[in-house]
Amino acid sequence: MTSRLTGNVLVFDSGMGGLTVARELQALAPTLAVNYAADSGFFPYGDKSDADLRARLPLVAKALCQVARPDVFVIACNTASTLALEDVRAALDIPVVGTVPAIKPAAAITRTGTIGLLATPGTVKRDYTANLIEDFASEARVIMHGSVALVRMAEQIASGEAVSLEAFREAQSPLFKAEGGDQIDTVVLACTHFPLIRGELAATVPHPVTFIDSGEAIARQTLRVMPDGAAPDLEGGHVWLTSLPNKQARLVEVCRRFGYERVDYIAVE
Ligand code: DGL
Repeated sequence: MTSRLTGNVLVFDSGMGGLTVARELQALAPTLAVNYAADSGFFPYGDKSDADLRARLPLVAKALCQVARPDVFVIACNTASTLALEDVRAALDIPVVGTVPAIKPAAAITRTGTIGLLATPGTVKRDYTANLIEDFASEARVIMHGSVALVRMAEQIASGEAVSLEAFREAQSPLFKAEGGDQIDTVVLACTHFPLIRGELAATVPHPVTFIDSGEAIARQTLRVMPDGAAPDLEGGHVWLTSLPNKQARLVEVCRRFGYERVDYIAVE
């Protein structure tokens, strides 16, 4: 069921992965004004050091909220949320929704007890991820693989570029070649870029699996924290990038494909 809730949400990611979350949000609440921001000047997040990301994220979030003035800020990025959700919350005075790997729902549906987790190298090594597994999937075997290549391939596919299926087979193969990988029946897409390539991933798995992601759960949580009486008539469809849009033709094209027509640059010191 869709909601008639109003208000203004800013969905944020390093690149275009968060558009998959924005799409879920808009589907659940068509009357919500949804805007988007990508930290394209610091993309990708998946291979950055923890210290660099923790320094960067509160600054970017603050700068973006000053221009976009959202009622809720959504970090549609596992790599950022599993490291710096609390830092961003401390920097802003509005509700902040984070994105964490869908380990709990995966543990509920696996039949073999072996779960695969595809993410960035950053998300794979986080204590936050280890704690989620400990708390919600301690009975299961969780095999993880971090890949920046898949993030880049997702951006290529979303903008209409061709990437061979062989490249997808190769990029996700470490998950299934690991010990016990032939038992995986559920794969958590723990990077918001990966729903963009769900079809390519599904076409190149060595045996059938169920893919799950956090998009709809994030959208529902965003509606839950929306303050009462948030402005009904703010416009959506606006994108801010932290690098010059004319250097980001691919990203701008994908934003347009998702219905975001107005793209602006914001400088982050
Ligand atoms: N979309 C991001 C995530 O969910 C990360 C992509 C990147 O490496 O920048 O983890």
